[in-house]
Amino acid sequence: MNKENLDKIGKEIKSCQRCALAKTRTNCVPGKGNPEADLLFVGEAPGKNEDLRGEPFCGRAGEVLDQLLQVAGRMRSEIFIANILKCRPPGNRNPSPDEIKLCTPYLIRQIKVIQPKIICCLGNFSSSFIMEKLGLANKIQGVGKIHGKVFIPPKAGSLKVIPLYHPASAIYNPGMIKVLAKDFEMLKNIPV
Ligand code: URA
Repeated sequence: MNKENLDKIGKEIKSCQRCALAKTRTNCVPGKGNPEADLLFVGEAPGKNEDLRGEPFCGRAGEVLDQLLQVAGRMRSEIFIANILKCRPPGNRNPSPDEIKLCTPYLIRQIKVIQPKIICCLGNFSSSFIMEKLGLANKIQGVGKIHGKVFIPPKAGSLKVIPLYHPASAIYNPGMIKVLAKDFEMLKNIPV
């Protein structure tokens, strides 16, 4: 059931013309993974490789994410990976506020279908958006301050939100891999 609903959202995303990124994309990247996942990872936006393949985190940041998932004892096949934006911003620039506003209704629908127990937000854009939406606006800070902390949104059952550094941060700053690994290690011990 979740699969059919996610496929339907994916189809809509693939024909989306809501913003100008529709003109520059090669492929949309709706997201990929287990429709029944307990753990949902939300990144920022597709990069060059993701745009070419239509899959999330399949470039260098994806290699780092795979390494970290191993640390967390998780496989891609058991989690779901989505992004704030479903199309690549040219030159990997930051998502604009308008793009976020127009695109995120898709993500919200995906979250409602999957009903994950934990949402791991990768980077500042993802953390701010998810925390805002889930009634945690008063807890938003730069990811450097809140990474690895577990937030319980009000009125969302036992859902947990965990901001994490974006895996791409370890590409430009190799020292970050240790910080990321420590946070992912902690994921092992969080009951879902
Ligand atoms: N970075 C992201 O935030 N998402 C992807 O899918 C790839 C790189």
